[in-house]
Amino acid sequence: MIFKNLQLNIDVEDDFFNTLYPLRIKKLSEFHWTPVEVAKLAADYLVAKPNCKVLDIGSGAGKFCLIGAASTKGHFYGVEQREGLVKLSQRIAKTHNLNNVEFFHSNITEIAFSDYDAFYFYNPFYENLDNSLLIDNKIVIDEKLYFTYSEYVENQLKKTPVGTLLVTYWSMGVDNIEGFDLEFTAYNGKLNFLEKKF
Ligand SMILES: C[S@@+](CC[C@H](N)C(=O)[O-])C[C@H]1O[C@@H](n2cnc3c(N)ncnc32)[C@H](O)[C@@H]1O
Repeated sequence: MIFKNLQLNIDVEDDFFNTLYPLRIKKLSEFHWTPVEVAKLAADYLVAKPNCKVLDIGSGAGKFCLIGAASTKGHFYGVEQREGLVKLSQRIAKTHNLNNVEFFHSNITEIAFSDYDAFYFYNPFYENLDNSLLIDNKIVIDEKLYFTYSEYVENQLKKTPVGTLLVTYWSMGVDNIEGFDLEFTAYNGKLNFLEKKF
C-alpha cells in the first residue's frame, strides 16, 4: 500500500511510511530520516532522465532511496556505514519488490562518485560535531571525521561533469561547492537544489 501509493503519486503521510520500521528506528525519524514529501521533491529533481543513477550519501534506514525508487524512474543507491541499517533497508526493498534500489555497507570514502549522475546529501557527518542525538553508539564519532568526510565529498563532487545534480537537506554551509549553482530552494533554505555548471 505505501509503495503502491508512492508509485501512483498518492500522498503518503510520514507516520504511515514509518510503520515500515521497528519502533527504535521509527523514533529516530524526526531528526535523522528524510520526510516523505522532501524525499519526493528531491528525487523528482535528481532523476532528470529515466535510469539515471542517484547516490544517497549516508542512506540511514533507506528512506530517501526507497521513496525515490518507488516514485521515479531513476535507480537509487544508498551507502551507509551502519550495517544494521543497510540490512534493514535491503529487507524492505526486497519485501516490496523494489528492483531499482541497492544499499551498500561501506564508508563514503570508499565510493567513487564518477559511477553516479546525481547526489543526495542530508547532513550525514554532523553527528561527529554534535553527539547529542546519536543514531546509536556502534560507530566511532570524532570531530576530525567530519572534516575528513566533508573534504572527500567536496573533492569528489568537484570532479563530476557539468550537469551533475545535487540536493542538500539541512546542510547549510555545505552547499557552497565549487562549480555548483543553486537552482531552487525550499523549506526556508533547508532544501536546496543545485546543478554543476563548470
Ligand atoms: C541524517 S542520516 C540520513 C539518512 C538518509 N539519507 C535519509 O535521508 O533518510 C545520515 C546517515 O549517514 C550515515 N553516515 C554518516 N557518515 C557516513 C560515512 N562516512 N559513510 C557512510 N555513511 C555515513 C549515518 O550513519 C546516518 O545513517
